[in-house]
Amino acid sequence: MTRKGIILAGGAGRRLYPATATSSKQLLPVYNKPMIYYPLSMLMLTGIREVLIISTPDDLPNFKRIFGDGSGLGMAFEYAVQQEPRGLADAFIIGEAFLDGAPSCLVLGDNILYGNTIGSVMKKASSRREGATIFGYPVKDPSRFGVVEFDKDWNVLSVEEKPTSPKSAHAIPGVYFYDAQASTLAKQIRPSRRGELEITSLNHLYLQQKQLTVEVFGRGVAWFDTGTHHSLLQAANFVETIEERQGMMIGCIEEIAYSNQWICSERLNKAATQMGGGSYSDYLKRLAANEGRGERF
Ligand code: DAU
Repeated sequence: MTRKGIILAGGAGRRLYPATATSSKQLLPVYNKPMIYYPLSMLMLTGIREVLIISTPDDLPNFKRIFGDGSGLGMAFEYAVQQEPRGLADAFIIGEAFLDGAPSCLVLGDNILYGNTIGSVMKKASSRREGATIFGYPVKDPSRFGVVEFDKDWNVLSVEEKPTSPKSAHAIPGVYFYDAQASTLAKQIRPSRRGELEITSLNHLYLQQKQLTVEVFGRGVAWFDTGTHHSLLQAANFVETIEERQGMMIGCIEEIAYSNQWICSERLNKAATQMGGGSYSDYLKRLAANEGRGERF
């Protein structure tokens, strides 16, 4: 079965208050586009076309307004409400009917990964039909995240959520690939001390079955979780720096749809025209007019 994507874009956004007083955190801008464009672009670079967006009852209508049924990107979008922030693994309970037995990729709506190897690493993870694949990323402050420990042959030894004494420097970014068991296993998880169905608990179940693979991102890959005002600004500055220097956008979903040949140049032009002007629209118009498809990837 074809792999499907889930973007978890709910939560209370308390750490970013009052910036999130009237807006979902995942719709705040990261430089020149809404935050959710970046995790969505990761799914698109993996080749995933069917996506479920999960958010709060208040915020879900705004995501629908932006993406509709996904056909503007040559994709198919569905939507589901998460009434309370019950934890990341809840995505697989809410998303069980959507997945309908398909393997999946979950991305957190506030995670940004950038680097020229991302697409190929994600595609490799996606091609694994059995078990789960998570990623490791070296950070200075691992105790803020899920942490993965592995041996010299990259076999996973442990996964822990925000450990006070981390066993490795490798945090687990918010991108996870699972086989068809994810929903069944998620229903076995009990809430953690912070009252959430932890994604780390789901990963632990896969580890117990010896079905957990880790891929490590090295130098040259940037990972931002935009959970604080500081990290949000850092991510925005990073995107601005790269885009200004190279003249190429990061997380431009219309460009990726075009490059994947999910939409044609006419559709790209139409999207640009509907935006009514501005630098993002100009960029799409230039792509549609004369840039060779795929040359920029
Ligand atoms: O960013 C990566 C980290 O994300 C991982 O290393 C951790 O293992 C994982 O637990 C998670 O840690 P956080 O504690 O930082 O997750 P947070 O509660 O900030 O939620 C991440 C995003 O998911 C955030 O945009 C809000 C959204 N969310 C969160 C929960 C708990 C939901 O949509 N629903 C939820 O129930």
